[in-house]
Amino acid sequence: MRPAPPLRPSSVSRVLIRRHVPSSHRHVSQQAARSVAELLQWRPAQKADDVVVHGFVRSVRSMKTHRFVSLGDGSSLAPLQALVESKHAEAEGLTVGAAVRLTGSWVASPGAGQSHELHVGKVEVLGPSDAKTFPIQKKYQTPEYLRTMPHLRPRTPVNAVLLRLRSEAIASLTQFFAGRSFTQTHPPIITSSDCEGAGEVFTVTPANNTPDAVDNGSSQEPFFRSKKYLTVSTQLHLEALAQAVGNVWTLSPVFRAERSDTSRHLSEFYMLEAEMSFVDHLGPVMDLAEDMLRSLSTSLANSATVQDLLFRSRNSGSDLAPADEVKRRWEGLARQDWPRITYSDAVALLLQRADRFTHKPIWGAGLQSEHEKYLAEHIGGGEKPVFVTHYPRDIKAFYMRETQPAAPDVPGATVDCFDLLVPEFCEIAGGSMREHRLDHLLDVMRRQRIQKSPSSEGGADPDKPSVNGLEWYVDLRRWGCPPHGGFGLGFDRLLSYLAGVQTVRDMVSFPRWYGRCDC
Ligand code: 4AD
Ligand code: MG
Repeated sequence: MRPAPPLRPSSVSRVLIRRHVPSSHRHVSQQAARSVAELLQWRPAQKADDVVVHGFVRSVRSMKTHRFVSLGDGSSLAPLQALVESKHAEAEGLTVGAAVRLTGSWVASPGAGQSHELHVGKVEVLGPSDAKTFPIQKKYQTPEYLRTMPHLRPRTPVNAVLLRLRSEAIASLTQFFAGRSFTQTHPPIITSSDCEGAGEVFTVTPANNTPDAVDNGSSQEPFFRSKKYLTVSTQLHLEALAQAVGNVWTLSPVFRAERSDTSRHLSEFYMLEAEMSFVDHLGPVMDLAEDMLRSLSTSLANSATVQDLLFRSRNSGSDLAPADEVKRRWEGLARQDWPRITYSDAVALLLQRADRFTHKPIWGAGLQSEHEKYLAEHIGGGEKPVFVTHYPRDIKAFYMRETQPAAPDVPGATVDCFDLLVPEFCEIAGGSMREHRLDHLLDVMRRQRIQKSPSSEGGADPDKPSVNGLEWYVDLRRWGCPPHGGFGLGFDRLLSYLAGVQTVRDMVSFPRWYGRCDC
């Protein structure tokens, strides 16, 4: 018999920190709890006493003299097996869903599966659960059904893995950008303009500014004096910050009022955006996106969370893409030299296979998802992500820099931009060089009717034409605006791809999409 060894650093968050707690409030006898994941890794040759674990009862199997309790705490896909004597006074409280603290001995298990099990001496039911009404069951429940109760869904083992993956990915990306001396910033959520110009913004108004309030005569002046929106991309503000501190990045919630009922669209999602200052060409911007994703893949590939995803048992995560497919995705991101193809070459390639598509590829039109799927499969070999670059001017946002000189044999003007495609999920990131020259920017804004003609403003300063709330963005070009470029990555799409989740709605704990915002 030997005491439990000291805790490893990763378990610090689960330890009850005792410093600064008045002595009268301390439970001196309470041992530090271990996570289920830690215990499953710990295989002592001799039994260890006084082991404490916190968790939620996943299932109970009652035998004549004992109950076998499966315990989960979100730290691992596999549960911990605990053995409790049926005659134990608290055994009745060990019902599915209950929050418990178990104390006992960690001993080698005679059964197959788990190397050790907890022989429980002390049971504390800290949060009882009525198993008959608890909606999360051990048996298979469809993703659609689980989506109807987003407040409980995170408790399923697979959803806990997804939460951990998100957390670890953020930590890894933060480290990547810090290593490259990018400044992490917090651009605003409430904005004055529709950055992408696609008209997919939600407006922001106080509750007492609603049409109902207007009817009741209780409406006030607009809160911010003019119309405001929830951001669809933080890019424009990032550009301002890049002129202050150089390379910048952010991971921010963004909002889009797209009426798209697809597996790839959410109304609220996280976008990772980076902006590089003093770069002349698109190449380094694509290099950054590629290096970032390669670094993410290589740094997390061996983490316990990714191992959970790659080596899960056949029954767990049956709604995820098969584990070998998920493994291929992780390996694909880790590979060097992702293919880069221009839009014009891509359209020429697609036209050679036009018979297999419902929508005929046409130069000047956006790529349909069937086209993107084909390109991701065939150019990236079904593994490596693919950059498609230099789309036509007319189908891209006003801020993108026009390609100079124009490529020969291309039917119209293009812009220095890219979309990054992966198999299945297609576009996960988009980026561009930004038009940094004042006259060129105003020219595009005029052509895209973002800029009103000065005469319609009645005496407006012709040097400062009205540009629909984007005056400040134009201003950036007046004083020291170097060539710059950046990209935005759909963070939830990326995580869905890497986890093998079939729809972004199941990647996000509380998904909002067209028609749904449950809690
Ligand atoms: O391609 P988008 O619209 O690019 C921008 O907003 C640029 N201003 C970003 C920049 O250059 N800083 O969006 C970027 C990515 C897309 O590639 C896609 O992965 C994701 O955001 N995305 C969505 N993800 C989930 N639900 C939606 N409705 C999405 N719309 C875009
Ligand atoms: Mg895009």
